[in-house]
Amino acid sequence: MAQSEVKTIGVLTSGGDAPGMNAAIRAVVRTAINKGLKVKGIMRGYAGLLQEEIVDMNSVSVSETINRGGTILYTARCEEFMTEEGPKRGAEICRKHGLDAVVVIGGDGSYRGAGKLALNGINTVGLPGTIDLDIACTDYTIGFDTAVNTAMDAIDKVRDTSTSHERCSIIEVMGRHAGYIALWCGIANGAEDILIPERYDGNEQNLINHIIENRKRGKKHHIIINAEGIGHSTSMARRIEAATGIETRATIIGYIQRGGTPTCKDRVYASIMGATAVRLLCEGKKNRIVAYKGGQFVDFDIQEALQMKKDIPEDQFEISRLLGR
Ligand code: ADP
Ligand code: F6P
Repeated sequence: MAQSEVKTIGVLTSGGDAPGMNAAIRAVVRTAINKGLKVKGIMRGYAGLLQEEIVDMNSVSVSETINRGGTILYTARCEEFMTEEGPKRGAEICRKHGLDAVVVIGGDGSYRGAGKLALNGINTVGLPGTIDLDIACTDYTIGFDTAVNTAMDAIDKVRDTSTSHERCSIIEVMGRHAGYIALWCGIANGAEDILIPERYDGNEQNLINHIIENRKRGKKHHIIINAEGIGHSTSMARRIEAATGIETRATIIGYIQRGGTPTCKDRVYASIMGATAVRLLCEGKKNRIVAYKGGQFVDFDIQEALQMKKDIPEDQFEISRLLGR
């Protein structure tokens, strides 16, 4: 096995925050310190890297964080990192601060940034941190479990009042490009319809026909879970009400899905992934993505992972449709 040359690790969170990111940071910091390495926190993602917002971290820096949502390192989006010059300068700053490796916790955008850091000579390990579950190489992403449970609880509550008033409800969940939260809630909340960016054909008449059919069959409510990527929930509600004569309301759940106490699964998986990232670096591995695939924690080459594609599992989509009929 290759010998590690890594003595100091940087860690950052980037893109949309996700519950469980703190558990991952904590695991990176404490595993590294236990293995005799130094850790520096890079604040505000790539923006903070380019601003050299880099602080020493120790075991106490991550005390009282395992149960907290958000990210203690803060997060940001950074246009400059998307230029050719950005990652080059980022890599120079890493070298200047003695960082032998950087652990990037974020979504697919952050991974593209991580891939560029790697191409500029910085050993980079990615951890999947996004509520969207839309990273191709992994079946699990940090934060999805918490977010989808938050959305599920909110939808149950809307369903109660929707049934009492015999209304139709359109409930918008997060996922600008990905329908995983909508799909899982569709099944978990027993929604009559789900609209997801990967599948929706824009045919509102089909939706209207389904609502009318259901009402004729005696259904008291009609729950439509609409992914953020489709959007326009409020105007859709107005059109559906006009076409069906059934009172229709829209609820946009919004950012509460991105915050809050991480679930047990998010704390445990994020901790394992954080510890795995440091183990890989200590084993001398370079430029990896930590993933959960086929029931196991595994790792992939960062550039290979970036080439992978993911789509909504057709069988799960079919199940959601079938059970809502
Ligand atoms: P997420 O990581 O949650 O998907 P974004 O897509 O907003 O979030 O990406 C987060 C940040 O990653 C961006 O603001 C940018 O700094 C960096 N990034 C995204 N795409 C690229 C790219 N193609 N090259 C370099 N950096 C990128
Ligand atoms: O973190 C993922 C996500 O919540 C997506 O579902 C959504 O498209 C995006 O972030 C919105 O983030 P923001 O409003 O912070 O740009």
